[in-house]
Amino acid sequence: MFQKFLIPGPKNTKRQKLRCQSALVAILFGSCLGAWGAPKKHAEPVIMDFPFVPLPADKVYANTKLTPEERAAAVVKEMTFEEKANSLGGFQGFYSPRIERLGIRQLYFLNASQGIHIRSDLNTALDKSTSFPCTLALAASYDPALSEQFAKAIGEECRAGGIAVLLGPGMNIYRSSECGRNAEYMGEDPFLAGQMVYEYVKGMQSIGVMATIKHFIANNTENHRRLTDSVMSERSIFEIYTPAFKKGIEADAGAVMTAYNAVNGHWCSVGKYINTELLREKLGFKGVIMTDWGVTRERDEAIASGANLIMPSFPWKPKPEQEKAMDRMITGWLAPFFKMGFYDRPQLDPSMKEKFPAHNQLALKVAQESIILLKNSSNLLPIDGSKYKSILVVGNAAERKIYFCDGSGGVKGYDFVNLIDTLKKEYGEKLTYEAAPTDDTIKAADLVIVTLASKGGESKDRPFDLTEELGKGLAERCAGLNPRTVVVAIVGGGIRMTDFRDKVGAIVFALYGGQQQSQAILDVLTGRVNPSGKLPFTIEKEFADSPAALYPQVDVRNVKGTTPHSPEYRTEYKEGVFVGYRWYESKKIEPLFPFGFGLSYTTFKYDDLKLSSTKLSGDDVLKVSFTITNTGKVAGAEVVQLYVQATQSSVPRPVKELKGFKKVMLKPGESAQVELSVNRQDLSFWDETNHNWKAEPGQFNILVGASSADVRLSSGFELTK
Ligand code: BGC
Repeated sequence: MFQKFLIPGPKNTKRQKLRCQSALVAILFGSCLGAWGAPKKHAEPVIMDFPFVPLPADKVYANTKLTPEERAAAVVKEMTFEEKANSLGGFQGFYSPRIERLGIRQLYFLNASQGIHIRSDLNTALDKSTSFPCTLALAASYDPALSEQFAKAIGEECRAGGIAVLLGPGMNIYRSSECGRNAEYMGEDPFLAGQMVYEYVKGMQSIGVMATIKHFIANNTENHRRLTDSVMSERSIFEIYTPAFKKGIEADAGAVMTAYNAVNGHWCSVGKYINTELLREKLGFKGVIMTDWGVTRERDEAIASGANLIMPSFPWKPKPEQEKAMDRMITGWLAPFFKMGFYDRPQLDPSMKEKFPAHNQLALKVAQESIILLKNSSNLLPIDGSKYKSILVVGNAAERKIYFCDGSGGVKGYDFVNLIDTLKKEYGEKLTYEAAPTDDTIKAADLVIVTLASKGGESKDRPFDLTEELGKGLAERCAGLNPRTVVVAIVGGGIRMTDFRDKVGAIVFALYGGQQQSQAILDVLTGRVNPSGKLPFTIEKEFADSPAALYPQVDVRNVKGTTPHSPEYRTEYKEGVFVGYRWYESKKIEPLFPFGFGLSYTTFKYDDLKLSSTKLSGDDVLKVSFTITNTGKVAGAEVVQLYVQATQSSVPRPVKELKGFKKVMLKPGESAQVELSVNRQDLSFWDETNHNWKAEPGQFNILVGASSADVRLSSGFELTK
């Protein structure tokens, strides 16, 4: 019934079948060893069903008038025990189960948040995919509408490749600047991440591709990610680590991927607390719960947990008495897939390939909007090319291909041009490049551009401090020799800049920007684009200042009472809800650059703050309005931020919390009125006594400003019962 083809090579020979089987064994094995990132050497073709084959017309579940749940139940009713046993986990590593006899085809799952990671060991109809900026860069745009467009474009690429389920977006909170995968997430603030995720999920699914919000929850470091127990308070779970997931669920995300780690002793993959109590009951998730790849250790726990798909496969034989639970698992993935229409229409849409040039343009736009100008003394930037006879570029980051977060979500894209070649095109003969220049060369240049980078990726954390290889000490040295030193940093999160921040003239901070990264950096350097990105995380002076400084975790192996399934690295989240700026502000530790910070080539004035009332009660909404004016000479966009401050509380609360933001584009001299709003939920904290949200009556302040540390306007109001 299925039209199968294997690429490359001829059809289903015995040998190929055998190879496929050994590939699968290798996949299962590989899962225990490392990341699911780099395609494995076994590179074997996998069966795909193109073109689309409709459901058998005589089957009850072919009836599109039934609800997805009814259709799923009708499939399960016809399944044999054996078929059910084969439908509890993925098929061939990256597919949903296929039930061939019943005409249920496998659906293709692929990574991830910054574009499509084409695996050379799996067949897709895609020969290329756009490398978009990482999602941390997307978050730096503080533009939810852009997040929607971004996800739509990735969704279109999925459709061009016949991919049904995108294994993203990622949204683990940036708790530690050393987390190797921060670039795949959306920063340290749950509100910002939630707004971006909401639009991402909506955008992706509007194209007919299911979004998988991941990794639920608290996968905040990469070293030992499969062995870590993230130990935290209930309040931290609800105030910090789940709100972005909640927004994804509100946007109707079809799937959740659970994390490798454990939380408070419960493995996220098979913990009933995580899957059933937290995800289903507390957060109201109704879609597919899949595990992360190759982590599930135990059959009975897996079946009882509330998860639907054990990925990449379910390697055990279930027991007959588990059939009811198996039915629950299977209807739990079938119904959401029916809801998406996956069994009723082809997923492959070759016409989507025509959109790739537009995606390339969008990748450029997001990269431009995500670049953060951290310093610009004496208006060294934008570079006025006519002023300089010689521009020296130093640091090998200028020639390296560092533009995406490595690992399973890495996207090479196409036509990437490195920074040095891009700059050369602009500045021609004037520009010289020396990865490691002499002092005299540095002194002699009219302008020095120092390129630095930091490589992040899956399975491994990265040091906060720069490595020698990617520019440690270079910026400080150049600034000591030449006052006209501009730093361009290409990074996946915070890096140590304490040694050079005060010495260099300017710092352009680019989070991995995808295939158009170099062009976007050039556009900011020349001033063709006025930078408008803001930090979606705090950059500390020293890693020791950060709430995650206790990392690496305490090794509790061999501690009495642990079992082979016990978490081995216990990471205590002692800071509680005080993550990111909440930490630095409450501890009065001055960071190097605060959350929400970013400069522009123009300036903005904030005026005229008005609250719609001096009191807020019940379900009312407090409207907050103010005026913002571009007081400089060039057009530019400002990300205005609204923070809420509780003046008294029965529990310790952060000094302030982000509860609103907006990106406003203004011509020189132009003003705009901004309206934001605050409701009761925005004023609430998680009450551990009643296990629910609580808003305590009292006095609150609204703080409006350009960053968490730059409050320009404030006004108070009272929350009544
Ligand atoms: C990663 C996931 C990814 C999966 C499949 C895992 O190693 O943690 O983010 O979706 O592999 O590639």
